Amino acid sequence: MKTLLLVCSVPLLLYAFIKLWLKWRRTYWQRKGLPVIELPVDEQNVNSAVQIMKKYRIAKERGLKHIGTYGHFSKPTYLPIDLEIMRHIAVKDFAYFQNHGVYVNERDDPISASLFHLEDERWRSMRVKLTATFTSGKMKMMFPIVVKCANQLKDVLDEHARIGDPIDIKEILARFTTDVIGECAFGIECNCIKDPNTEFRKYGKKQFDFSTWPRVMRGMMMAALPHNILRFLRFKFIEADVETFFKDLVKDMVEYRETSQKRRNDFLQLLIELKNTGKVSEDEGTQGGEIHKAGDMEHITMDQITAQCLIFFNAGFETSSSTMTFALYELAMNEEYQDKLRDEINTVLKKHGGQLTYEAVLEMEYLEMVLNETLRKHPPLANSMRVCAKDYKVPGTDFILEAGTNVVFTIQPIHMDPEYYPDPEKFNPENFSEENKAKRPPFTFMPFGEGPRMCIGLRFGKMQSKIGLITILSQYKVALNKKTLYPLVYCRRSPILSVSGGVWLDLTKIN
Ligand code: HEM
Repeated sequence: MKTLLLVCSVPLLLYAFIKLWLKWRRTYWQRKGLPVIELPVDEQNVNSAVQIMKKYRIAKERGLKHIGTYGHFSKPTYLPIDLEIMRHIAVKDFAYFQNHGVYVNERDDPISASLFHLEDERWRSMRVKLTATFTSGKMKMMFPIVVKCANQLKDVLDEHARIGDPIDIKEILARFTTDVIGECAFGIECNCIKDPNTEFRKYGKKQFDFSTWPRVMRGMMMAALPHNILRFLRFKFIEADVETFFKDLVKDMVEYRETSQKRRNDFLQLLIELKNTGKVSEDEGTQGGEIHKAGDMEHITMDQITAQCLIFFNAGFETSSSTMTFALYELAMNEEYQDKLRDEINTVLKKHGGQLTYEAVLEMEYLEMVLNETLRKHPPLANSMRVCAKDYKVPGTDFILEAGTNVVFTIQPIHMDPEYYPDPEKFNPENFSEENKAKRPPFTFMPFGEGPRMCIGLRFGKMQSKIGLITILSQYKVALNKKTLYPLVYCRRSPILSVSGGVWLDLTKIN
């Protein structure tokens, strides 16, 4: 009997202990003397980015430079409000904030060791190598692959427009960007745009599917337990079947290229160069050469290639498809801007003999303004995360931020701050005219982050988003179908900003 009682009381005691510990943890900022802004309960049931934005606004109104907040399992998280503090975090004191603080285990979970996850010296060395694969010369080289995928997108849109079906544009664009990155990073023709149920898409989606219990438990363990304990337990984030699929895919493609001596102008080819020589070839046609030698650094391994291909896919396909979706949503709501952009696109294309070329895209200035305004209002990553590496005295204050504290790199709250953008809710491409850009202080537009850890795929993301928008707007008028929720609500759980219920468009073919 006594044993039974003891066995039953252990879980209860454990539960009570965890409850007390979480409660105590939630007093962290009070003990440290930093204000916390609590939102009313009915405002907590929305996307976390919206909650952070509300806290930022309240803090700003109260004239606070920074506040404390709590993340998963009440983890204390620091929220800077002052631009000067942001600048220090991103650039000046980068040495304190260089890591994203996400779990990485190169030994047991090698393909989790992507550029986004890697830390300290491992990150720095990989970043130097990969930077060479994202130069403007390399983008120009991959441009035709993206245009080829855009032509397939056009075929699918033509079919919808012919039948007069409303179209869930995010779904179609996610299939387009999956095809693009499948081709550029893995070297395969996935054909998702025509067949959404390919193996590639299935395993790609599976990584983010948290609908099963084992996956939920995995996510909770990663959020709750310190990373050194997880590493001690040899915890793997990527499931065995997902790992096998992507490892085999990359191995087959690399072997095929090496044995057949077939070269292609894509990321995979550049990663193979890094594996075999430790450097990538210089850009063609760059006088004096953009030199991107990785010096005498070690060559990269097959597992490292797989990890980088996977992060290019994960970081690249949804961010860009969301960007295009938001742009089309805003343009459908603002016909005048839509017509102005279409005029520019068609005039420039005509000048280039009707051909969509790299040079033609560079000439489309209004497209750049529309894209930037979209990324201002709806940055796909509303906030990025950093972790403080060692105790840090916050500039302009006496506050010491403790090592190990998470830091929110506030992107959307700054983009929506009326001090920097008057009438921030209004979609206004003129915010990005040369004149208006010059009026704003630095660090007020950073959809790709800022400083040495900013998005490495910026050029590629913009290129594929522009090609997608040109393909659609040059040939169709877009209008919101009544299936689209208005006003727009962000999906609650999605880490990348996306529209609840999807954006449904009616397309009308122009010529
Ligand atoms: C519109 C499209 C995109 C947006 C808005 C975007 C945004 C971002 C942001 C905000 C970060 C975090 C920066 C920080 O912590 O300061 C990031 C990191 C990253 N992005 Fe992107 N991204 C886009 C497209 C892409 C594409 C197409 C790729 C790859 C082909 C890519 C690869 C990465 C990688 C590898 C990182 C981690 C960089 C590092 O830790 O050194 N992104 N991105």
